[in-house]
Amino acid sequence: MLTCPICHTALNLQGKTYTCQNRHSYDVAKDGYVNLHIVQHKNSHTAGDTPESVQARRRFLASGFYQPLRDKISSIINELSPNTVLDIGCGEGYYTSSLAQNDRQVIGLDIAKAAIIAAAKAHKTSPNGNISWVVGTGAVLPVADGSVDICTSFFSPLPKAQMLKVLRTDGLLLVATPAANHLYTMRERLFDTVNLHNPAKFVAELSPEFTLMDEWQIDAPMVLDRQNLSDLIDMTPYTYKAKLERKTALKACERFETAASFCVYLFKKSSQSS
Ligand SMILES: C[S@@+](CC[C@H](N)C(=O)[O-])C[C@H]1O[C@@H](n2cnc3c(N)ncnc32)[C@H](O)[C@@H]1O
Ligand SMILES: [Zn+2]
Repeated sequence: MLTCPICHTALNLQGKTYTCQNRHSYDVAKDGYVNLHIVQHKNSHTAGDTPESVQARRRFLASGFYQPLRDKISSIINELSPNTVLDIGCGEGYYTSSLAQNDRQVIGLDIAKAAIIAAAKAHKTSPNGNISWVVGTGAVLPVADGSVDICTSFFSPLPKAQMLKVLRTDGLLLVATPAANHLYTMRERLFDTVNLHNPAKFVAELSPEFTLMDEWQIDAPMVLDRQNLSDLIDMTPYTYKAKLERKTALKACERFETAASFCVYLFKKSSQSS
């Protein structure tokens, strides 16, 4: 399923090295991931999350507040029962690891090396599936054309043309994105005006190449302590968008109530696009 980022031919894994027919080779690092992000595809504007936000997200997600979303995603995927899944912008693999069941082949791909290292360390083995952790960009996916049953993107980029290329005919796309009121009370404290999220814009942007098949809303009320609250702020873009004094004041709260709210969309690759 993985392809060489230089010549785009198939990669074969022999021992701890992936090689293509043109003898480009990529070693699997000791932590268990492969770096397929080559310098030609690098762009400083898309370097992905910082190591600090990666660590904040890892701690926050480990506290279980987003478990309802993880469970929903896992049950949707299990019901669809794909053989191959590509998780684009997989971060530290919190959702990715729940997809690898029933001997499924899963690729977790992220542009942020720090995120992939954390993912590979935390999920070295998976009980019933096989996860390949890959540093790479959604802008040029190192994945064979037509080889993926389901692409997933949870709060991550949606590179439409690339997803269409790697998905098989009738392939599916599962997207999670903030619902209108996601973290409303927290954003009220950080900003003078709160702009509601507009999840439906993704449906419009992905159309007509992707057809919406189903949608769900998942709500998770949360009572956060100081550390949880600080991590939640730092794992979002609010950490650099909010004024420092507002952020500092909010981070001083010992207890804060808010609610996460997510939209999950299932799309099918439209027949005219294959
Ligand atoms: C908000 S985080 C979501 C991470 C994970 N899906 C989760 O929900 O825990 C977005 C992720 O997209 C990654 N990302 C940003 N641009 C990317 C690109 N061009 N290709 C691949 N990943 C990218 C970031 O590094 C980051 O890990
Ligand atoms: Zn090659």
